[in-house]
Amino acid sequence: MGMQCERIAIVGCGPGSPDYLTPAAEKAVEQADVLVGAKRLLALFSNSSAVRIEVNSGIEETLQRMEETEKEKRIAVLVTGDPGIFSLGRRVIKRFGRENCRVIPGISSVHAAFAAIGVDWADAWIISAHKEDPDSVPPIAHWDKIAILGGRETSLQWIAAHLPADSVEERRVFVCENLTLDDERIIEIRASDLGGLKAASRTVVLIMKKSLIP
Ligand SMILES: C[S@@+](CC[C@H](N)C(=O)[O-])C[C@H]1O[C@@H](n2cnc3c(N)ncnc32)[C@H](O)[C@@H]1O
Repeated sequence: MGMQCERIAIVGCGPGSPDYLTPAAEKAVEQADVLVGAKRLLALFSNSSAVRIEVNSGIEETLQRMEETEKEKRIAVLVTGDPGIFSLGRRVIKRFGRENCRVIPGISSVHAAFAAIGVDWADAWIISAHKEDPDSVPPIAHWDKIAILGGRETSLQWIAAHLPADSVEERRVFVCENLTLDDERIIEIRASDLGGLKAASRTVVLIMKKSLIP
């Protein structure tokens, strides 16, 4: 069942609904003395009596507080979705070492988005425009299936400005907001309308060649 001795568990908590939390995630949280995470992730575990370190924008400050935690305490770092997809997990592993961390996979918002429209995703390319615009313009046009993590007010404008030239004719665009939550909304829009759309802070945009959608 994997190694149990690591001090830090990096716990994938799914896209938001408690229905999408795994029993392994719940167990890791039960065993933790300290929970680290954003406010809405901490709220998923309101029954836990562990000490809480809320992650705001200051990641460095959070890592420092983890470092100052007594060495015998077990820490669970809560991340949205899966730790392997644009999460705090990478910074935690870099700082504390892989040998001290156990990664508990979760259901990603990307999994949930493709599931919502019933399309497989093994050949998808995943881009994050979540925190800031990506540094360089990725060669989006090379990929037939793209998932972009939005989240900021201007994320959709960035995506709209970098759509492949063939988008209007050749591709379908789905905007997936608040996946798994009560206010989940999945809409298909014309590529040319994407830039003007106001989307929720939890949004994944899927852009796909029409021929790939059954
Ligand atoms: C910091 S990234 C973390 C991604 C996460 N590790 C994952 O696997 O889903 C945060 C972004 O995930 C996406 N996201 C997270 N939860 C979501 C949800 N319930 N519905 C839609 N998008 C979501 C949004 O694009 C948000 O800006």
